[in-house]
Amino acid sequence: DNGGYEHYLLKEISEQPDTVARTLRGRVDDRFHIAHLGGLNMDARETRSFRRVKIIGCGSAYYSGQIGAQMIEELARIPADAEPASEFRYRSPVVEADTLYVAISQSGETYDTLAAVQELKRKGGRVLGIVNTVGSAIARECDGGVYLHAGPEVSVASTKAFTSTAVAFALLALHLGRVRDLSPADGRRICEGLRRLPEQIKEILTMEEQIRELAIKYADAPGMMFVGRVRGYPVAREGAQKLKEISYVHAEAYPASELKHGPLALISPELPTVAIVPDDELLDKNLTTLGEIRARHGRILMVGHRTSEQADDCVVVPKNEVELDPILLTIPLQLFAYHAAVALGRDVDKPRNLAKSVTVE
Ligand code: BG6
Repeated sequence: DNGGYEHYLLKEISEQPDTVARTLRGRVDDRFHIAHLGGLNMDARETRSFRRVKIIGCGSAYYSGQIGAQMIEELARIPADAEPASEFRYRSPVVEADTLYVAISQSGETYDTLAAVQELKRKGGRVLGIVNTVGSAIARECDGGVYLHAGPEVSVASTKAFTSTAVAFALLALHLGRVRDLSPADGRRICEGLRRLPEQIKEILTMEEQIRELAIKYADAPGMMFVGRVRGYPVAREGAQKLKEISYVHAEAYPASELKHGPLALISPELPTVAIVPDDELLDKNLTTLGEIRARHGRILMVGHRTSEQADDCVVVPKNEVELDPILLTIPLQLFAYHAAVALGRDVDKPRNLAKSVTVE
């Protein structure tokens, strides 16, 4: 039942204040400023023993893993990175006892992710799952994990599961941080930030008409560039992924700092840029990049926490804590891709050549 929405995708985007609240429910402890994640099946001593975190997943799950890796490094100060599950399993990875492996899957059935988990288990790796579908193959295979509780996701392109995965990673990062060196004050800051998310997502959803008009304005371009740095880079990657999978507009994501090492040659009025520009310590550097794009007559849509005269158009998103901002910055990009796809008359919920869950190799 699409609940009166024209597409499941829009329904699932619009549900996010509730789905994020469900991912958070019962898990934020305001007394000790910690996260309760009962399904991890690890005591504090074991939780402290990991020296690395390796995250695997496919497609949007992989991009949400990149957001998660950044959160874990920042809040828990454990080296963390994400990799596509298919690449991971085929390069005969070194599996170490002091690495915590995290597998991400909305469906819990993606074959490459499942096979990577099985390979890890065979080599004695400790694997947690961040999964939406309860009792799915990946959930059963893992040693423990975090369920998203986002409800069934029908549209092929992931939206609410992506957002809830990023929220689950914030909880995991808070948990790993608070058994290590994250201070109670910082723990409290993150707990309060997490609690603000559902209302802030509601606020972003009220901007839908503005974003729809921007999507129509930019959807005529043959391609788009998405740029961001550090926390903004996985957001840019997910924004580009959403646009290409449902609107079939070519989209490429780059770290903003890498533009000058190649893709700046592509910048012209025909290739607009979506720039993810949070108010963080990289703000000035990001604005400088916008100036460079502008000097090449590139059109710019900036998604951030303020307006800038360097950009042609700005979407101003409510500010949270810097570590949590990627969760909110992604949501306007979902609406942008959705309305671009609608404007171009695409089959939004079932894009050509794609399946919701890829259970074969
Ligand atoms: C893809 C879906 O094929 O599988 C994506 O189209 C999804 O939306 C990816 O991100 C991974 O799926 P899952 O279920 O493992 O998260």
